[in-house]
Amino acid sequence: MALDTAEQAPRLLAAADAGEPLEVVTHVGRDVLANAAHFATVPKAVYEYVSNSIDATPPGRACTVRVDIAASGPQRRITIADDASGMSRELLRAFFTMHGENVQRRAGRKVRGRFGTGKIAAFGRADRLRVDTVQRGLRNVVELAKSDLENARPGRPIRVREVAIDEPTAEADGTLVTIEGLHRGTRADRAEIVRYLQRLLGRHLVQHRVYVEGERVSYAPPDALEEHRFASPERLTELASGPLELVVRIAARPLTPEENGIAVLCNGFLNAMTLAGCEGKPEAQYLFGELEAAVLDDDTSPVPAFLATRDLTLNPWHPTVAELLPWVRASIETVRRELVRRAGDRRRAAEQQELARLGDDISTLLNAIYRGERVRLVKGAPRDVAPRADEPAPAPAAAPVAPVAPRRDRGVARGPRAPGGPLEPPPVVEAAAPTLGGGAYGTFQVLFRHAGEASPRAFYRPDERGIVMNLDHPEAIASLRNGGPNSPFFAHYCYRTAMEEFTLAMVADLGYPDAPEIAREIRERSDKYSRQFAPAILRLALGSEEGEVTPGD
Ligand SMILES: Nc1ncnc2c1ncn2[C@@H]1O[C@H](COP(=O)(O)OP(=O)(O)OP(=O)(O)O)[C@@H](O)[C@H]1O
Ligand SMILES: [Mg+2]
Repeated sequence: MALDTAEQAPRLLAAADAGEPLEVVTHVGRDVLANAAHFATVPKAVYEYVSNSIDATPPGRACTVRVDIAASGPQRRITIADDASGMSRELLRAFFTMHGENVQRRAGRKVRGRFGTGKIAAFGRADRLRVDTVQRGLRNVVELAKSDLENARPGRPIRVREVAIDEPTAEADGTLVTIEGLHRGTRADRAEIVRYLQRLLGRHLVQHRVYVEGERVSYAPPDALEEHRFASPERLTELASGPLELVVRIAARPLTPEENGIAVLCNGFLNAMTLAGCEGKPEAQYLFGELEAAVLDDDTSPVPAFLATRDLTLNPWHPTVAELLPWVRASIETVRRELVRRAGDRRRAAEQQELARLGDDISTLLNAIYRGERVRLVKGAPRDVAPRADEPAPAPAAAPVAPVAPRRDRGVARGPRAPGGPLEPPPVVEAAAPTLGGGAYGTFQVLFRHAGEASPRAFYRPDERGIVMNLDHPEAIASLRNGGPNSPFFAHYCYRTAMEEFTLAMVADLGYPDAPEIAREIRERSDKYSRQFAPAILRLALGSEEGEVTPGD
């Protein structure tokens, strides 16, 4: 409450001198304006009056509230008309009591009203409030202007202008609130009001009929693909005097900030939205849901769960909120992590498709070359030349090459893993000197596999008639980091590597006695050197801002 000591000091001193007791008083005008500052947007102010209408509806009845934006001369005004219980002159007195206790709540009804400040929401963005209300055949009309508040004297009540007092009328019960003299530049957008009411009133819109500019506001939660329910842990259940249920839903599309998060409801009214610390984390933008926790509203703790500012946040210092937030966070995290896992699977599947397409393109090219080369080999292949007597006979082209000793130079960089990860821990494939299938004509393929970091960049698998591109090789990893599987950079790496492997296999296949051995030597050395190139290629991907890349990071 605003207690302006500077202004009041002389008066208080005079009173003390006169022997009067000291009192806490308030500057009502400043108090009202300070509270009105919380209603800085038209939708927020409109919601306050609509929620008052719903609160004032007799139990079991449906209420109709009409919100209209009207132009009156150069000025705009907003009206909120309801067919609720209306107010008598006595109730109007309660209406104009700042921070007054909510009469319906006192009578045990489950209502939104709590703070006793919503009535002044109009002064957030406007200069005048008019209330025209009928109850049991009597009509009262009152007005309050911002200038009345500004001109109020400290410690003195503010007189409300009474336009009609207990005027007999045949009109039905109900209240018409008018927000007049909207400040210049204030947005009064129909769609924004609708969205705000949808969000704040939620399921109340099913029972009660709220119209904005003649159009009914519907209950429109985002479409959910899935729903996960979580029961409150024991300690929280005890604090809440009963179990709570949290529903976490997965939306079909990324949500707007207004939709995103768990709606903390008290008797169906939205009091807070929270992602409980998961804000901004991957996939969190798909999560929404609700938690009905009337216990937070009923509670009489000296620390409130929600503040009169109505900023839709939970007060983490409230004892039940302190217990509730970790549970909400853990529940959201369970669903979010599952979404992250699925997103990873989807990305890997897309990458697999991309790699398969790249493999097809390369193998089509190599097959065409292979067919051309075979024709020429058949004509004048050295294999046709009989070996000299002092030379050992060349190994038959298709003969399996003896395994070589395991490599000791296990490569250089162990950069970030290529997307996908190994399917199984793969055995090290030795850099043997395979050939292209013993001279048989036909097609072969280019395959992408996770063959382990120590295996060669590429190798031939006779059983699959395919050149396997090893995605775990440091150079492959580094090349993939330069834009992913459909980047020209990675495609070029694959074309070149497959072409080199193909060349070596072709050379090994020529029939020269030492060709397989030389091809193997070249392959081993090329692989070794490529591992030393890999960190430099990775640095290209990471860019200068990430600085030096340490092998093994
Ligand atoms: N449209 C209405 N019809 C009947 N009574 C109303 C209407 N609007 C307000 N009232 C009465 O006026 C009182 C004051 O309203 P106000 O919005 O200031 O406080 P509240 O709803 O109790 O609390 P909160 O500040 O949390 O909204 C309400 O408690 C209710 O009794
Ligand atoms: Mg209210």
